[in-house]
Amino acid sequence: MATVTLSKLDKTYSPGKKDSFRAVKGIDLEIRDKEFMVFVGPSGCGKSTTLRMIAGLEEITGGTLKIGEQIMNDVEPKNRGIAMVFQNYALYPHMTLFDNMAFGLKLNKTPREEIKKRVDEAAEILGLTSMLDRKPKALSGGQRQRVAVGRAIVRKPEVFLFDEPLSNLDAKMRVQMRTEISRLHARLDATMIYVTHDQVEAMTMGDRICVMKDGNIMQVDEPLKLYNDPQNMFVAGFIGSPPMNFFPGSCVEDGGSHYFAEAPSEDGEAFTLKFTGHMVSAAKKQGTQPAVFGVRPEDIEVSGEKSESSITAIIDVAEPMGAETYLYLNTPTGRAFIAKVQAEHAFAIGQTVHLKFNQERTALFDQASENVVKGA
Ligand SMILES: Nc1ncnc2c1ncn2[C@@H]1O[C@H](COP(=O)(O)OP(=O)(O)O)[C@@H](O)[C@H]1O
Ligand SMILES: [Mg+2]
Repeated sequence: MATVTLSKLDKTYSPGKKDSFRAVKGIDLEIRDKEFMVFVGPSGCGKSTTLRMIAGLEEITGGTLKIGEQIMNDVEPKNRGIAMVFQNYALYPHMTLFDNMAFGLKLNKTPREEIKKRVDEAAEILGLTSMLDRKPKALSGGQRQRVAVGRAIVRKPEVFLFDEPLSNLDAKMRVQMRTEISRLHARLDATMIYVTHDQVEAMTMGDRICVMKDGNIMQVDEPLKLYNDPQNMFVAGFIGSPPMNFFPGSCVEDGGSHYFAEAPSEDGEAFTLKFTGHMVSAAKKQGTQPAVFGVRPEDIEVSGEKSESSITAIIDVAEPMGAETYLYLNTPTGRAFIAKVQAEHAFAIGQTVHLKFNQERTALFDQASENVVKGA
């Protein structure tokens, strides 16, 4: 059983020194046996540091790391039952693919027949069988990355660690390797932890995704749960493209109805929008505390007329994408936002449109904490 359990895991670089930096801030996470867990977040949020602590390449400053039932904080990397694949695959240029993959096994004195068996098996899985005599320079980027994966497979680890392994590949090869790694996960039945800054990679590959920011975990959930039910503005804005639109303002009650009032501005009249469904209970909960109304571009619809539940906006740019059109809009207060609408209308720059929101799918956040607000 290769569960990986992080408890209050903490990393400070150069502790006690002037340039000391706390890169991981006491995170708790349990990665399940055979799970494909993705760490995603912007550059510098602590993804690689966390992965390297799991691998044993970086000393743990505080908390505990368990793999299975064993505490691994002070266990040598080679005894942790893990194998890691890096972004720059660092193959030995003078060695054949076979020797590149066999290298680690030779070092720890695995018998020759066993080495051959494992390398052949990995090559077969990765479609490299006919290339085992080649040297790395005779391979494409995608093939080299496969060799790097092969080097991990031959060690038969219980846990695979990947640190942005596809970043150096072109877009098309990235998509292909993405599918291959997912397939590999299904076939090898191992626990995999995969680091990326790319939310599309995270969404398509992860059983669960751990979203990180500034050394903290912001949310851990299945991909669609993250998308449909973000716990805070950071996750709401990070997952989804184009990102969720945010309108600051506050909730207002009037005659038993609940409204969202955009923050006032000197530039133009702020909008007021009548809430329906779960947005009403969220508004009740939030009261008069400053709030943020969140709506994804795909949950905005062009409506014919002005109403209590529509807002008015001016088209800045219309980008026809084929099946749909991206509208870059401004509210009268000058707040920019994006709508993804059906391509059936023709749109003109400067045109005024009335927009309705699918309030089943919109969200309310508390402005101070940036956490989602949910009614009873
Ligand atoms: N060896 C190091 N010494 C000091 N600071 C470091 C070191 N390695 C990384 N950091 C800092 O720790 C933070 C997290 O880095 P990292 O884990 O590499 O982020 P990510 O992989 O999410 O981009 C960054 O601010 C980075 O500059
Ligand atoms: Mg990194």
